[in-house]
Amino acid sequence: MDIHSHARPAEVAVQSVSLDLTADFQKHELSGAATLRVKRRDPAAPLRLDTDGLHISAVTVDGTTECEWSIGKRDANLGAPLTIRLPDGAHEVTVRYRTDPSADAVQWLDPAQTDGGSKPFLFTQGQAILTRTWIPLQDSPGVRITYDATIRVDTALGVVPVMSANERERVEAGVYRFSMDKPVPPYLIALAIGDLDRREISPRCAIWAEPGVVERAAAELADTETMIATCESLYGPYRWGRYDVLILPPAFPFGGMENPCLTFATPTILAGDRSLVALIAHELAHSWSGNLVTNATWRDFWLNEGFTVYLEQRIVEAIYGPERARMETLIGLQQLAKELRSMPKDDQKLHIDLRGRNPDDGMTSVPYDKGAAFLRRLEELFGRGRFDAFLTRYFDAHAFRSITTEEFLDYLETELLAGAPDLARQIDVEAWVRGPGIPADNPEIESAAFEVVEAARAEWIGGAAASSLDTRDWVTTQWLHFLRAMPESVDAAKMADLDDAFGFTQSGNSEILALWLELAIARGYRAADARLDQFLMTVGRRKFLKPLYEALVGVEGGRERARDIYERARPRYHAVSRRTLDEIVGT
Ligand code: BES
Ligand code: ZN
Repeated sequence: MDIHSHARPAEVAVQSVSLDLTADFQKHELSGAATLRVKRRDPAAPLRLDTDGLHISAVTVDGTTECEWSIGKRDANLGAPLTIRLPDGAHEVTVRYRTDPSADAVQWLDPAQTDGGSKPFLFTQGQAILTRTWIPLQDSPGVRITYDATIRVDTALGVVPVMSANERERVEAGVYRFSMDKPVPPYLIALAIGDLDRREISPRCAIWAEPGVVERAAAELADTETMIATCESLYGPYRWGRYDVLILPPAFPFGGMENPCLTFATPTILAGDRSLVALIAHELAHSWSGNLVTNATWRDFWLNEGFTVYLEQRIVEAIYGPERARMETLIGLQQLAKELRSMPKDDQKLHIDLRGRNPDDGMTSVPYDKGAAFLRRLEELFGRGRFDAFLTRYFDAHAFRSITTEEFLDYLETELLAGAPDLARQIDVEAWVRGPGIPADNPEIESAAFEVVEAARAEWIGGAAASSLDTRDWVTTQWLHFLRAMPESVDAAKMADLDDAFGFTQSGNSEILALWLELAIARGYRAADARLDQFLMTVGRRKFLKPLYEALVGVEGGRERARDIYERARPRYHAVSRRTLDEIVGT
């Protein structure tokens, strides 16, 4: 039972959808039809779909026969149910509709928001429950469907569509066909349209991006094929055919989104030195944890993200070495500890209660980093050999299925714990999954590279000039560690000393820059103001925006500055970022 969907798949279940949609960049509308094939488990029951803001003009069966349909009351989080009375024997129904220009899943970018500056761009973001704002479906991760799509664009615009599908074909100028023949949850159906170019980096992997970005992107992501091969050697075959990556314009609200066959990623990972590519390892890992085995409901989200963070760190370790993996793990754990300090106890549980709430509320570091820590603890206890074999069997046994936390725990019990009772006694699974905080048996992680950073920071706080510190060999994670624990005594003058020595304000590394700007706001270092303004006006990634706006409203006179920037920037942000920032800045 998924509390975030109006659908009743136990009565009538959607099995596939065929889309035929035209993108209108003038009106900001997708319009056309969705044809759904259904399995009628209860022949008397109507079909119930999720919709939110869709403008429906007709519902027909067998091409022409109009059938009875109605839209129910809208819930602020869930949207409104569309109930369709199916005639006897009908198994296919077509909904003709258009999306609203304000559909949350769809972001329409002006040419000015793209790299090329002359063509518009569109992308969709389905997770968690936004697909219903562009496709009428049973929008629950527990419902898996195959799909195909015909996408039509105005040839005069010079844009092309791409989708999260395993087949793509140009039918004629402006008309493209896609199909995904593996059953996926609706939140993984994704579309992007823009001035896109493509660079092969291996037989099964290409990078898509705007022409001015694609070369740089392909160079940055050159390790992607190695990542796929590494993950396969750990957890079994990659089952989706191609693995392509689409680099979006900077307005994209997330770091990455694991749309099958085509990961969507922010351009802010293009640092020039491959230092931020763990994000690709993460989205790729979802091809096992998340897309192959999917959380059945959003309260089981940790099954997607906790496993994926764990896999991501294993890939990073195999390719970039254990020290880099440890540093990235520690940064995640520090973030988790920070968030836990101000989080209600109930939200600290992996198996979170989301009744009456938006699934977005569960998108904290808990499912990610506490989830991964739980798996790391199991690995420590049972040993790598046994735990890796367990995970491989787990993915295989649940391939192309959606499962609940209970189902995972049952599998864990019979397939791992029961075989070694002496070891099983040493872990309190209930405390990890249904308890708050971080259990005391969370494995200790130490990083020599971070100790170097801590020593340098202490030296500098003790009076040494920033320029005298030996930072020559430092990597990105070390710089992040350096900036993350700056004592309150570091004022604007000390910030200037750092900036003169290390040029943080001009950093081309988005993670370092975002952290630096946050610190600059908090410590009153105004020399970074212009850069902050420029960053907030171009980057839409919520993970960066949230702490920056929070920092702004937290300092004297900052709320006015935040309001001023937000008023200009808000129209450029995606709905999910706006939702978060409206609460922080106020509208
Ligand atoms: N699937 C998530 C993004 C997401 C989660 C979108 C929930 C909407 C609702 C994606 O895999 C993810 O976790 N992205 C992270 C990066 C990752 C390296 C932690 C992000 O975007 O920051
Ligand atoms: Zn993820």
